[in-house]
Amino acid sequence: MNKILEIKNLHIHFRHHHQAVKALEGVDLDIYEGEILALVGQSGSGKTVTGLSITRILPPSAEIINGEVIFGNQDLLKAGPARINAIRGRDVAYIFQEAAASLNPVLAIGRQVAESIMLHQNKTRKEAWDLALDALTQARLSRPESIMRSYPHQLSGGMNQRVMIAMAIAAAPRLLIADEPTTALDVTVESEVIGELLELREKFNFSILFITHNLSLVEKFAHRVAIMHRGRIVEQGASRRIFASPVHPHTRELIDSIIRI
Ligand SMILES: Nc1ncnc2c1ncn2[C@@H]1O[C@H](COP(=O)(O)OP(=O)(O)OP(=O)(O)O)[C@@H](O)[C@H]1O
Ligand SMILES: [Mg+2]
Repeated sequence: MNKILEIKNLHIHFRHHHQAVKALEGVDLDIYEGEILALVGQSGSGKTVTGLSITRILPPSAEIINGEVIFGNQDLLKAGPARINAIRGRDVAYIFQEAAASLNPVLAIGRQVAESIMLHQNKTRKEAWDLALDALTQARLSRPESIMRSYPHQLSGGMNQRVMIAMAIAAAPRLLIADEPTTALDVTVESEVIGELLELREKFNFSILFITHNLSLVEKFAHRVAIMHRGRIVEQGASRRIFASPVHPHTRELIDSIIRI
């Protein structure tokens, strides 16, 4: 399989009152075409910072100290504003935990999805509207026409999360970064939303970087798992191998904590 993304020796610090918080301390991570790579680790281990660094949507206090993010033969950390803007939301799309918070409460869903399509693709308003409707249908939202006219507060958490997925896949990305996309949902809705995400990946063959603190969640669907601990990837490998014979003590700890529940 081909690599679509290579993160090499990435170091990121946050400056706070002349002190540096070392968020990433030499992250090495490869993502292959069409794969589901789970990035798993405890809170504060650096998962979100890793995901955001890929298209440089980091908070202003973040400092990239060292490293490379290679995508399509180019280091995105050195790419100019026009190039990086073309990649954001198009080749590389994101979904986050709080769908409702990422959506605008005073705009109807259809307009938001259509505007996001117009922002990333060269489409007329009418074309964008049709593509939005199509994306909502793909994300298995029933009665998509009525959803287009609804506002975020009129939809359930699971439906809003499907809207976010629809928005992300409308651009036909090569990589979808899903950062705790189902943490705010209850368990039944969580497995439905993940099921739909997996179906969409089958259909459109994008890669997924699935970020979660919950190792047990990814056991069934991740092809590979990378374990993150204190700003480093301490172990990575085929999902089956990680669960059957973990090597790093921290991976064992995470697996033990699942079994204890
Ligand atoms: N805006 C920020 N300012 C200062 N420090 C930050 C900021 N964002 C993250 N950090 C620090 O960077 C480190 C990594 O944070 P990150 O958010 O990537 O963790 P995470 O693994 O995603 O955790 P969680 O599971 O809680 O989402 C932590 O030490 C965190 O405190
Ligand atoms: Mg996080």
